[in-house]
Amino acid sequence: MGARTAAIAALAGGSLAIASLERTRFRRVRTVVITGASGGIGRASALRLARNGFRVFAGYRKEADAAGLVAEATGELEPLRVDVTDPGQVDAAARRVSEAVAGQGLWGLVNNAGIPIPGPVESLPIDDLRRQLEVNLVGQIAVTQALLPSLRQARGRVLNMTSVGGRVATPFMGAYHASKFGLEAISDSLRRELTPLDVDVCAIEPGSIATAIWDRGREQADGVISEMSPEAGEVYGAELGAALRMATRMGERGLDPDRVARVVERALTARRPRPRYVVGADARAMILAQRVLPTRAFDRLLRRGMGLRRRGSRTYTS
Ligand SMILES: NC(=O)c1ccc[n+]([C@@H]2O[C@H](COP(=O)([O-])OP(=O)(O)OC[C@H]3O[C@@H](n4cnc5c(N)ncnc54)[C@H](OP(=O)(O)O)[C@@H]3O)[C@@H](O)[C@H]2O)c1
Repeated sequence: MGARTAAIAALAGGSLAIASLERTRFRRVRTVVITGASGGIGRASALRLARNGFRVFAGYRKEADAAGLVAEATGELEPLRVDVTDPGQVDAAARRVSEAVAGQGLWGLVNNAGIPIPGPVESLPIDDLRRQLEVNLVGQIAVTQALLPSLRQARGRVLNMTSVGGRVATPFMGAYHASKFGLEAISDSLRRELTPLDVDVCAIEPGSIATAIWDRGREQADGVISEMSPEAGEVYGAELGAALRMATRMGERGLDPDRVARVVERALTARRPRPRYVVGADARAMILAQRVLPTRAFDRLLRRGMGLRRRGSRTYTS
């Protein structure tokens, strides 16, 4: 065989090997773990993926939620008890998953669990800040670490449910934004670390989605308000109230959680997934406005949009 023929044969062999690897990836049982699947986006994603042929481990904390998921699911769905802040539960969940996917590895992990803790930065109880970061950031990293060996085995994908709030920071949600900006940063670092292993990492960035998170946010805010000093109440009370009313309206106008579930499925199956998926026109508009406007102008736009006062419109009297 001449050198030219040998080179062509080697190239053809390489293409065949790549094609066969692609086929293997698509013929396997596609197992996915989703944290925080008791409701909202996590539940919609778990039910959609199970319906469409994935084997889904759906994360829950309360037994009643596990039973509800099984009752509603069509397809293969196994509830997986995992509070992302509990190292024992994270370990046990990872053991169960790695045993179930032995030989094949894990197709995808959707780090979806999350809570909102609103409140002005000045009077946010530090323990609340720690809890916010523990659930939305540290917990996601702990679950990712525990499942990475299985993900590496399958050249799988990590989807981090960040938020438009991981790109744009609004007043009175500083702790939540810190957690989501942090998760965006971890997504970028991890994606760049895992590139040689062909494990991809995507951030999913929804705008307003109609889920229970908005009611949970208001309950959390009631707690923060009740712990505020009279002085903090005087300084921030009215504005916090306006911000919460705005949040209620955004929740009411939010998209159906299945809109995000569809994006989750796309990110899990695309041949070349995008590093970021923005979901919703509101999220796209906010990211664009922040990019094109000078920072102070964007500050004013955000505050006006939230029904908050203009700069210097109050004098400090205490
Ligand atoms: N809704 C939106 O507008 C929106 C927009 C952008 C991003 N997101 C993000 O999307 C994700 C899902 O939110 P959602 O709107 O679907 O809210 P949701 O309906 O309140 O669901 C949150 C899920 O997280 C779970 N969870 C809370 N703490 C947990 C913990 N320590 N360990 C494990 N699971 C825990 C909850 O379980 P329990 O029922 O047991 O508490 C629930 O299943 C969150 O990360 C959120 O930040 C939401």
